[in-house]
Amino acid sequence: MKTRNLLVALAAASIATGAAAQGMDIPRPSRGLMPNPNLGKPLYEGKCAECHGAMLTGSDKGPPLLHKVYEPSHHSDASFQLAVKNGSRQHHWKFGDMAPVPGLTPDDVAHITAYVRGQQRRAGVR
Ligand code: HEC
Repeated sequence: MKTRNLLVALAAASIATGAAAQGMDIPRPSRGLMPNPNLGKPLYEGKCAECHGAMLTGSDKGPPLLHKVYEPSHHSDASFQLAVKNGSRQHHWKFGDMAPVPGLTPDDVAHITAYVRGQQRRAGVR
């Protein structure tokens, strides 16, 4: 009986760590990377502007990123990494889910985030 409980506990623990490794693992940019908004801008325009708008003010497919909801205290830089890697379920708006965006490294996403943060500061979203 004791062994059985132990096995059940071990199985549960391995499922839990497996889920954590798959879902919540936050992609990390390279050590010492200096996120550069000038590198982020063209990547943003190529991969994000279609939905979030060339001026970050949104489109008919996605919300504005120059919005209080996306200020750093509400959506951290990690939430950008997670949204790009895993997509994001519809929860704040009515545009539907955001699909994962392929073809970007964590460094690319850090550059994009630096660009978005710069534009947010200019627009007074901080
Ligand atoms: C096909 C459309 C589409 C594209 C392309 C897209 N997004 Fe999104 N994104 C959305 C939608 C829709 C939401 C809002 C989901 C909600 O909260 O209802 C969203 C939400 C987000 C969020 C918030 C996630 C959260 O935790 O609430 C971030 C950050 C984000 N997008 C960043 C990006 C970045 C960076 C790119 C480019 C690499 C990008 N998106 C490309 C549609 C898109």
